[in-house]
Amino acid sequence: MSDGPESKEEASALQEAREEVLEHAGAQSVGDRSQYLLIAEEVKAGYIPEVNILNGCTLTLREGEVVGIIGPNGAGKSTLVKTIFGLLTVREGTIELRGESIANCSAHELVSSGVGYVPQTQNVFPTLTVEENLEMGVFLRPKTFRERFAEVAALFPLLEQRRRQKAGALSGGERQMVAMGRALMMKPSVLLLDEPTAGLSPIFQDEVFERVKQINSTGVSVIMVEQNARRCLEICDRGYVLDQGRNAYTGSGAELLHDPNVIELYLGTLAAAAD
Ligand SMILES: Nc1ncnc2c1ncn2[C@@H]1O[C@H](COP(=O)(O)OP(=O)(O)O)[C@@H](O)[C@H]1O
Ligand SMILES: [Mg+2]
Repeated sequence: MSDGPESKEEASALQEAREEVLEHAGAQSVGDRSQYLLIAEEVKAGYIPEVNILNGCTLTLREGEVVGIIGPNGAGKSTLVKTIFGLLTVREGTIELRGESIANCSAHELVSSGVGYVPQTQNVFPTLTVEENLEMGVFLRPKTFRERFAEVAALFPLLEQRRRQKAGALSGGERQMVAMGRALMMKPSVLLLDEPTAGLSPIFQDEVFERVKQINSTGVSVIMVEQNARRCLEICDRGYVLDQGRNAYTGSGAELLHDPNVIELYLGTLAAAAD
């Protein structure tokens, strides 16, 4: 892992302590299902046959929530959001949106059902203009372009200002706005964001967190993966710490932020690296 300044001994002690937590973290019970907009329960999935990366992950999202997913590199955070978005086969477990199974639906079916996804990398078409990128966002409903563009540009004024520029000519932060804008063009009810602040300057990171809160305040429920764990927990309603494709800790953002075990095992070095 590239997060910490710790020595080899400290790193292996940390690893052992994390393994201990995972051994004792039992299956998560979802409880009353009717309270959730989205449920991923005991999901197993992976890239190579027979090799699971997600080893029984559970995550829930209520209407109006921002839910954060944090955890070490390689924990399976991106894999979880990709699986929710139908990009990987659900081998075991269930994924439901408003009580209906969406496991193994195609990405475009999910987009039609109101799920938007912004991948971690390569999330804009660099040779297309900003406007064309946003048109791609509504290729399923091209007639809505004008109205949607106006609403999305109200949230991200930059998209109007840079409308005719090629997305590839924009800075990393600006491209992230294009990617988020594109996902919002279909007026999703759930937005999946994979590390929206990765590689951005601190000013743009702040802006992204602000935008996420703003998007959420317009009624979009958000699941966001973040490396910037502390900042993420500060703004999210609830958070999940994933490790080795399992749930290590779950709680409100504030609970996780102040949990001594979470701090020691998952926030200490990340915080040192980020601050
Ligand atoms: N396309 C892929 N093919 C095979 N293995 C992959 C692929 N993408 C990710 N993995 C593996 O899955 C594990 C989890 O990766 P990922 O979900 O990207 O982690 P995170 O987002 O938490 O850093 C890692 O061990 C990674 O090497
Ligand atoms: Mg990732």
